[in-house]
Amino acid sequence: PTHSRVTLRVNDTEHVLELDHRTTLLDLLREHLALTGSKKGCDQGQCGACTVLLDGRRVNSCLLLAVCQEGREVVTVEGLAEATVADGGLHPLQQAFLDRDALQCGYCTPGQLCSAVGMLEEAKSGQPSVVTDTERPGDAPVQLTVEEIRERLSGNLCRCGAYPHIVEAVQEVVV
Ligand code: FES
Repeated sequence: PTHSRVTLRVNDTEHVLELDHRTTLLDLLREHLALTGSKKGCDQGQCGACTVLLDGRRVNSCLLLAVCQEGREVVTVEGLAEATVADGGLHPLQQAFLDRDALQCGYCTPGQLCSAVGMLEEAKSGQPSVVTDTERPGDAPVQLTVEEIRERLSGNLCRCGAYPHIVEAVQEVVV
């Protein structure tokens, strides 16, 4: 067979789809669910524009086959606020991006946001980065250094070069 059925949750809504085996998770989101926030920059895992959260972990959705994601939970930039903020406002990181002017053309922004949210969770759960390599105490609030943020977000490219403001915005969010 060339098609299979897959059931997965996207931004808290369950979807059952019959998909060509070659469909990527990114194409599922953009072409089948009209969630065009996740961007296709390179389609080969190099730019990070397609980053989404898969069961809470950041992934390049262009590198994953949709039919392999049976039963999994996806959060895209469209669902970021609802997934994390109770009152219907913006995710704190989205607000920080606005406050700090952390974008120019905006094409990489959805990926930067999803990646940074995943990255903050990783840092909070004690996953060391290459540059700090220190154990973090369990419950203490985490504030990341500029070097650490740059290293942890190095998979997300910005052709406008808005990095200084992106790093400032991320640094503002204490998790
Ligand atoms: Fe997926 Fe570039 S589009 S990494």
